[in-house]
Amino acid sequence: MNTGLAGKSVVVTGGTSGIGKAAAEAFLAEGCRVTVCDFRQDMIDQVNSRNDPNQFGFAADVTCSEQMCALLDRVQERFGGVDVMVNNAGVGNPCGFTTMPDEQWDKVVNVNLKAVISCCNLAIPYLTGRGGCILNTSSLGGRITSTVRSIYGVTKAGVSMYTRLLARELSGRGIRVNAVAPGMIRTDMVTQNNRHLKDINVLGGSSVMQRLGEPAEIAAGMVFLASDLARGVTGQVLEITGGKCIVQDPAWSWKQHP
Ligand SMILES: NC(=O)c1ccc[n+]([C@@H]2O[C@H](COP(=O)([O-])OP(=O)(O)OC[C@H]3O[C@@H](n4cnc5c(N)ncnc54)[C@H](O)[C@@H]3O)[C@@H](O)[C@H]2O)c1
Repeated sequence: MNTGLAGKSVVVTGGTSGIGKAAAEAFLAEGCRVTVCDFRQDMIDQVNSRNDPNQFGFAADVTCSEQMCALLDRVQERFGGVDVMVNNAGVGNPCGFTTMPDEQWDKVVNVNLKAVISCCNLAIPYLTGRGGCILNTSSLGGRITSTVRSIYGVTKAGVSMYTRLLARELSGRGIRVNAVAPGMIRTDMVTQNNRHLKDINVLGGSSVMQRLGEPAEIAAGMVFLASDLARGVTGQVLEITGGKCIVQDPAWSWKQHP
């Protein structure tokens, strides 16, 4: 099937590791021209050392409008505009509401929610008139509760709602807006947040598939949502979770009803 993505200009924030890295690779495989944004200069240098004419890295912090404007201007110069804006950069924070220091609240809200909105606002002029689309990375944690997700869950619920609201606001401008909501995916974020576990794979136990998800599986959902195959899809949050949370008590269900 033709995705219609060949030659499209794609910007991926948080694009040097985990889900963002997999997304950059998946869009490159579709023949896209990909700009990788991340605030880690060393990782951006690695991207640029590949000397791939269809990809370049630009160090920018999604919470800094000046840096994001500089990035978008560079994308305009190099690739003529933006067709797909992927707002994926995010930070995890396994902490309760009552135990989280104020500066951590601010950081999680600023990166996970405020920056998604400001990056969209900055990118929209570059998307307009190109039939472009916006993809946000939300989370299953924005829909279901967990003892350790607190403000992270609130920001991701915000991203999901923002996705629907923006889809409505931009419908007259030919820009589709969708999100992916991953379950538990094998990335640095999950490894770091679960350092206390001997075996990270136990985190996959609550999904029907009985395993952790892989970044490429989320990237595949992004490719679909950005493609012509999803030309009738906007304002949706696509959950890619391996069937997490579709049964009430996974441990019991797997034993009693194999
Ligand atoms: N891994 C999971 O299980 C999971 C589940 C649901 C949602 N998510 C979401 O997926 C997205 C990607 O997470 P991941 O799991 O791949 O983690 P990751 O830590 O591997 O990747 C996050 C990337 O974002 C970058 N980043 C962080 N803050 C930034 C900033 N201010 N400016 C620019 N770049 C910044 C990091 O440098 C890193 O490259 C996040 O939004 C996360 O909340 C992850």
